[in-house]
Amino acid sequence: MSTYITRRSLLGASLAAAGTGVLAACSGGGNGGGHEGHGGKAPGGTAPGAKGFVEPGGKEVLDAEAKRGKGPVRKVRLTAVATPLDLGGGLTVRSWAYGDRLPGQEVRVTAGDTLALTLANNLPQSTSLHWHGLALRNDMDGVPDLTQKPVKPGATFEYRFAVPHPGTYWFHPHSGVQQDRGLYAPLIVEDPREPLTYDKEWVIVLDDWVDGVDGSTPDAVLGELRKGMSGGGHEGHDMGAMTTESPDPGGPSRMMMGAKSDLLGGDAGDVAYPHYLVNGRTPQAPVVFGAKPGERIRLRIVNAGGDTAFRVALGGHEMTVTHTDGFPVAHTKTDALLIGMGERYDVLVTAGDGVFPLVALAEGKDATALALLRTGGGTAPGASVRPKELTRRVLTADGLRADASVALPSRKPDRTIRIALSGGMEKYDWAFDGKPYTPDVRHAVRAGERVRLVFSNPTQMWHPLHLHGHTFGLANRAGGPRKDTAVVLPNGTLTADFDADNPGLWMIHCHNVYHAEAGMMTVLGYLK
Ligand code: C2O
Ligand code: CU
Repeated sequence: MSTYITRRSLLGASLAAAGTGVLAACSGGGNGGGHEGHGGKAPGGTAPGAKGFVEPGGKEVLDAEAKRGKGPVRKVRLTAVATPLDLGGGLTVRSWAYGDRLPGQEVRVTAGDTLALTLANNLPQSTSLHWHGLALRNDMDGVPDLTQKPVKPGATFEYRFAVPHPGTYWFHPHSGVQQDRGLYAPLIVEDPREPLTYDKEWVIVLDDWVDGVDGSTPDAVLGELRKGMSGGGHEGHDMGAMTTESPDPGGPSRMMMGAKSDLLGGDAGDVAYPHYLVNGRTPQAPVVFGAKPGERIRLRIVNAGGDTAFRVALGGHEMTVTHTDGFPVAHTKTDALLIGMGERYDVLVTAGDGVFPLVALAEGKDATALALLRTGGGTAPGASVRPKELTRRVLTADGLRADASVALPSRKPDRTIRIALSGGMEKYDWAFDGKPYTPDVRHAVRAGERVRLVFSNPTQMWHPLHLHGHTFGLANRAGGPRKDTAVVLPNGTLTADFDADNPGLWMIHCHNVYHAEAGMMTVLGYLK
């Protein structure tokens, strides 16, 4: 493997100077591959091979799980199916979903519970289920060919784990671009000692929609994006079951041209979606949330999109941001929020009297998703309403600070891992360090270390970067919010600190599902 050589040639002297101890090691990847654990040797690092890493079901993982305790068991059964979905306004599509509904039925548990969810796979291809944002036991993280075997068509898999932290989370497959179908649902973890007081809760899941519209599928969209690739060869990236379905050549072009956003530093996205949804509905037939004037409502907002950042505002209301990615922040007032794919924000609002549009503007794509808050009489605003709050104060994660109760204690990093984002639209070769994902390349850490991830982004696009199994502190400034997904702008740097306290093999990837599938993913591995 030339992983290390490539990485070194890309990063040049900076890697050697930094002495990051980045490793390239080979394992069988669970598929009996021919590699024999002959990793490249990075300056100052070691090359332990696959055997040097904690295994997803290893003793270290089980020990960590035992410390989480055993709360009451919450049993859930979920079936992934191919089904028609009524998105409203006369639009019914055939897609894949959890049950017959979009989003899937919310799962609601209390921190400390044990969740026992049986996933039945009635889809025509293998799937998996990832618990986005949860610091759970590694073998339940749902990454096929890394932490578990793919769940085959007709098979079931029981996800069983202690739920560690309260907050707003969600789940989706980690198989190919399945997440860009209807396979997603919120996971709400209640706090047994909830410090906030509010009257009602409104869970809001945002999505960009293409599946089943005029013959389009996410696989066909990926196929079209990849046609931009020069040289034509893209065989080196066999993700097992993910590539079994050959893209449908039918359907109109979904390539996005010229989507621009200042907030996102330029190019806003790759995919021109025909629809944008709040809780599975088009703006022509929005979900209506009922409340009384003066009630305090906690909005839990999830961006389940594939390639769209949303700018969210509630017409006629100021929002108080209380959490991001499940963790509390110092309360911050704003008129609108920018939410990248995979991010979550909780906000409090005090309901006015009337009917108000909750609008999610597809940032840079000149289209919106809509829901309504109704507390009284009045005519509902039209499908294309854009409340003026959208262009007032717009908050991004940089504008937040962690709540004192969860602020990452300041500590000098024991290890710094530098990752350079790479690739572009021309070849659709999104990757880290110029090398597409392979499950047997791991960035090594040791349990107990304070680790600093430094992502530099010389690409032309923004990327929402996600780390599994941990909640880092945004270290671009002191006291930054705790997050598991954070946006890095073009020519920007994202510095994320975390304590290595959850052993296993954990994905680091862009949460643009097309970038991830093109190769913008890698693995963080705990050394034994
Ligand atoms: Cu929400 Cu690796 O994913
Ligand atoms: Cu990306």
